[in-house]
Amino acid sequence: MTESTHCDLSALFRDAMAAFPSGVTIMTTADRSGRPWGFTASSFCSLSLDPPLVLVCLAKTARCHPAFRQSDDWTIQIVAPRHLALVTRFATSGADKFTGNEFVPDERGVPVLPDAPVTLACSAHARHDGGDHSILVARVHDVTLLDDQPLLYFRRAFQPLAELSAGPHAP
Ligand SMILES: Cc1cc2nc3c(=O)[nH]c(=O)nc-3n(C[C@H](O)[C@H](O)[C@H](O)COP(=O)(O)O)c2cc1C
Repeated sequence: MTESTHCDLSALFRDAMAAFPSGVTIMTTADRSGRPWGFTASSFCSLSLDPPLVLVCLAKTARCHPAFRQSDDWTIQIVAPRHLALVTRFATSGADKFTGNEFVPDERGVPVLPDAPVTLACSAHARHDGGDHSILVARVHDVTLLDDQPLLYFRRAFQPLAELSAGPHAP
């Protein structure tokens, strides 16, 4: 494979992934010293019903990567359009992410966003190698669901969930 072909595939692959709409999550933890860590993630996906497992892929270059290797207590929040500024902050590597008082520590010391549409309190079930990412497999222990709309991410842009004019489509 020539260098230019490789570059083309890399760009095409990124465009292909950007063509897959997703929700947006913020995953949080605290390290042994109690310092909070977190990052914006769209790689969130459901993995297993029994036991209840989800996964998130975290870049090995992320500053928070060592904290998620170290800590076994994690929280995943699916966020709403009103959380856009927070999402941007948590997507900025090295930013002072917990500068506001949006997050409160739960009984494990893990930062939690109280008004997130969905909050999953999790423990580390497994960590797998995934190329330049680690696959964080999380076991869900507690779920908080609000009657709220999620923020969507599609073609590198954030969007609210539009009204579905044609109504729901059964598979
Ligand atoms: C919409 C969106 C989704 C993202 N999804 C992921 C993801 O699933 N995994 C990941 O490692 N980084 C993802 N990122 C990038 C991280 O949020 C970003 O690199 C973050 O700042 C890493 O945190 P750090 O400060 O610990 O380096 C995403 C960024 C955006 C804007």
